[in-house]
Amino acid sequence: MNEVPVTLWVNGQTYAVRVSPRKLLSDVIREDIGLTGTHVGCEHGVCGACTVWVDDRPTRSCLMFAIQAEGHAVTTIEALAQHGQLNVLQQALHEEHGLQCGFCTPGIVMTMEAYLHEHPNPTVDDIRDALSGNLCRCTGYQNIVAGVQKAARVFAQNSSGATSAAGNESTHLSEGGREYV
Ligand code: FES
Ligand code: FES
Repeated sequence: MNEVPVTLWVNGQTYAVRVSPRKLLSDVIREDIGLTGTHVGCEHGVCGACTVWVDDRPTRSCLMFAIQAEGHAVTTIEALAQHGQLNVLQQALHEEHGLQCGFCTPGIVMTMEAYLHEHPNPTVDDIRDALSGNLCRCTGYQNIVAGVQKAARVFAQNSSGATSAAGNESTHLSEGGREYV
């Protein structure tokens, strides 16, 4: 099929590419833009590995054609760490050993980062519910849940103006490549 020009806005940068109109956003992000942190598992909208943000909303990039993303802000996992420093959720997952196979992790981080922005004080059941759309084939959700809980505590401390008590707990928050406290 003939390729068409598409201009995508990803992590605050403009990318002009030529792609098939049927090419998935996930494939264009990985193959044409070169951001391989977004992973592709099922390609059917089931596993959540391909989750990115489109206009700050978690979106399965395997269920979207790249041309549909034109005119929208796309954010990938690469935008979360800033200046070589993990953000709060990434750091908390690291500390709680919630970074497991690495394949599902980017989608989990993108889903839960957005979730915590809207639900800063979740219960364990809330976290498990929010995680239910991201499949972990190793079945090791326990440490992921613990990491999200820890990140929620740091979010709460930061939003109340308190300084992080734990030496390892980062106070760096990010959203769509923008830092905020
Ligand atoms: S690869 Fe998109 S949901 Fe599984
Ligand atoms: S974290 Fe990827 S299979 Fe469990």
